[in-house]
Amino acid sequence: MPRIYITTPIYYVNGDPHLGSAYTMLITDTLARYYRARGWETFFLTGTDEHGDKIEKAAAAAGVSPKALTDRVSASFRAAWDDCDITYDHFIRTTDEHHIRYVQEVLARLYDTGDIYFGGYQGLYCFGCERFYTPKELRDGKCPDHLTEPKMIEEETYFFRMSKYQERLIAHLEAHPDFIRPEGFRNEVVAMLREPIGDLSISRPKTRLTWGIEMPFDNRYVTYVWFDALLNYISALKHKGEDVFERFWPEAEHFIGKDILKPHGVFWPTMLMAMGEPLYRHLNVHGFWTVEGQKMSKSLGNVISPLDMKAKIGLDAFRYFLLRESVFGQDADFREDSLHARYNAELANNIGNLVSRSLAMQDRYFQGAVQPLSDPMPEIDQRLVAAFAQAAAEVEQHVTNLSLSRALEAVFRATDHANKYITETAPFTLAKDPASLPRVGAILHNLLEALRVSAQLLTPFLPDTCEKIFAALVLPDERKRVYDLPWGRAFAPGHQVQKPQALFPRLP
Ligand code: MSP
Repeated sequence: MPRIYITTPIYYVNGDPHLGSAYTMLITDTLARYYRARGWETFFLTGTDEHGDKIEKAAAAAGVSPKALTDRVSASFRAAWDDCDITYDHFIRTTDEHHIRYVQEVLARLYDTGDIYFGGYQGLYCFGCERFYTPKELRDGKCPDHLTEPKMIEEETYFFRMSKYQERLIAHLEAHPDFIRPEGFRNEVVAMLREPIGDLSISRPKTRLTWGIEMPFDNRYVTYVWFDALLNYISALKHKGEDVFERFWPEAEHFIGKDILKPHGVFWPTMLMAMGEPLYRHLNVHGFWTVEGQKMSKSLGNVISPLDMKAKIGLDAFRYFLLRESVFGQDADFREDSLHARYNAELANNIGNLVSRSLAMQDRYFQGAVQPLSDPMPEIDQRLVAAFAQAAAEVEQHVTNLSLSRALEAVFRATDHANKYITETAPFTLAKDPASLPRVGAILHNLLEALRVSAQLLTPFLPDTCEKIFAALVLPDERKRVYDLPWGRAFAPGHQVQKPQALFPRLP
């Protein structure tokens, strides 16, 4: 059985879930649902990143201990993802005992092998990013992300011998051209590797920061937050058991936003090399969301919260919009008018309408009892069958390439075709003549099949909606999951379906 290990970044606990983090969660949740439904062994990990300067400062500003802050915010992240029906298998916190032990074990091991050593360091440090910058990486002397001037810091520190693995990483990228995808981000990492990457400072003196994992060989220092955080991808699996680790590593598909490319594309693979572990399968990098053309920020008051969106338009509509509106790897803009337009045209008029019209006619003309298909099928029915077969093939291809938007488009082309089929075959007119009722029954049977296949294909994207469609079709669980069930085999004549409920009431 194929296996897949899907991860999200672990979120800093100095903020709340927002559009950006929700986007990663929805992509990864969709993929986890997709592969699970197809029988893959799936492990889906998310969690919170709780150490470091940023968190220590946020706690001080809130007048609470870092522990109290992280407990509260981590729980609120978890609750938000639960409210969004995110089907993660494990939620890791970097303050979990098992994670701390694992980080210390790795540190001790790399210290013994000589890949961690003590030295002096001087550099420009951005506290927002929790990392040193080379002057070249700065824009007008400022951190390109935080637009603040980094501080010159001089200290003794432990280094990770990252430079030792530079050549091997370059060779790996050459041998695995899609290791980092899409290609643009791979090229960015290749460019980083054209310069010497140097060694990575991985300790912080306790005189400056205490909120971190203590270095096992020197209690005057805590571990740099990125060295700690990246290890979550393995500590979580180990925590579940050595067998879980053996099964899911290195089947990892990491998903991240483009701002954390360097830690994932350079630090993490070189750490894995030093640890003697195989590298992850893919690093999948997505773009950034803006809101009405502007950067999302607390000060602008334009932060989109997933839970507000759930209350406003429903979870599935929010999921649909984020997945449909964006191209993986590119930036996207969240606009109320696009959301409104897509909701009405695609959710209400296309799929919503197809479901309600088909089930309403089934109820009106046959009191919900399924009728036999025509044998042989007329050309127009065969074309409908072909449209859904094509959608199924396209979904598979697009999901594999992370083109979730195109996968949705493919299904909606088929449902659009089904709506046209209703107009062209006009069962509502035929039904006026009792002699045509068998034909009407066959047309409606085709439409029920169209609903079944649509729900099957859309389940990972719109889980709640598809559950409602399956419920109205009164299909037993095992038949929902059979992807190659031939058209016409799902519903025996006489099978009772239910009346529709409005899935996506039109927005005014
Ligand atoms: N804690 C680190 C990740 C450690 S992973 C071992 C971190 N956390 S974060 O909370 O700041 O960011 C989490 C994710 O949110 C990142 O992938 C980041 O790219 C993403 N986003 C933050 N703002 C975003 C948008 N406006 N749009 C899309 N994603 C964005 O970094």
